[in-house]
Amino acid sequence: MDIRVFKNYEELSKAAAELIVEQVKNKANSNLGLATGSTPVGLYNELIKDHKENKTSYKDVQTFNLDEYIGLPNTHDQSYYQFMQEKLFSHIDVETNNIHIPSGNVEDIEKECERYNALLKNNPIDVQILGIGTNGHIGFNEPGTPFESVTSKVELAENTRNDNARFFDSMDEVPTHAISMGIQNILEAKQIVLLASGANKADAIKAMVKDAASIDCPASALQNHANVIVLLDEAAASKL
Ligand code: PGA
Repeated sequence: MDIRVFKNYEELSKAAAELIVEQVKNKANSNLGLATGSTPVGLYNELIKDHKENKTSYKDVQTFNLDEYIGLPNTHDQSYYQFMQEKLFSHIDVETNNIHIPSGNVEDIEKECERYNALLKNNPIDVQILGIGTNGHIGFNEPGTPFESVTSKVELAENTRNDNARFFDSMDEVPTHAISMGIQNILEAKQIVLLASGANKADAIKAMVKDAASIDCPASALQNHANVIVLLDEAAASKL
């Protein structure tokens, strides 16, 4: 793992944006794996700024999101569909048809998982952006998930629901399930860029980097990947 530590969140976000802009400049039809959550918002702001100032184009880029809640309509302000529209897609020139997010609102979730797995198989991801949960999850692959997992319906860990409750009016509204790319899908990306900011991520980062790879820390599966860049602020790196 190539671990890079930055003074603060702003510097980390800029470094992440430089990697993505370089990727898209070198390969206009890049397949980008994208993440939701608070952490990549700074990166997305930098990409929007760069798109406006330097005209980096996403016209031929395809995007593949990691996950989506089950049970929230696309119009819900906390659906990851809405999140991505608001935080990135509506501000850049990505084509609607090139945006891929699993749907948590279909009758047949199994079929949706199969569709998403086939899509990923046919469109290998060039760079996958990841955050990390305080429990070490990547995507919504919670502790205990086998490293061989592929896109499936997952139950959210209680601490993930607590972490995400800040975005909802009450705990009852926080979804209990999601569709998530599996760990194996994530490991199939050619390059992985994981971002973490804040002292509350320090234990998960330590388990990912220092401890033996174990399903107790899903992010430790990244130890088995040859091209992982980890961008941390000083607080997230404080236990390394
Ligand atoms: P966060 O979430 O960026 O909102 O901390 C990260 C994650 O759960 O993967």
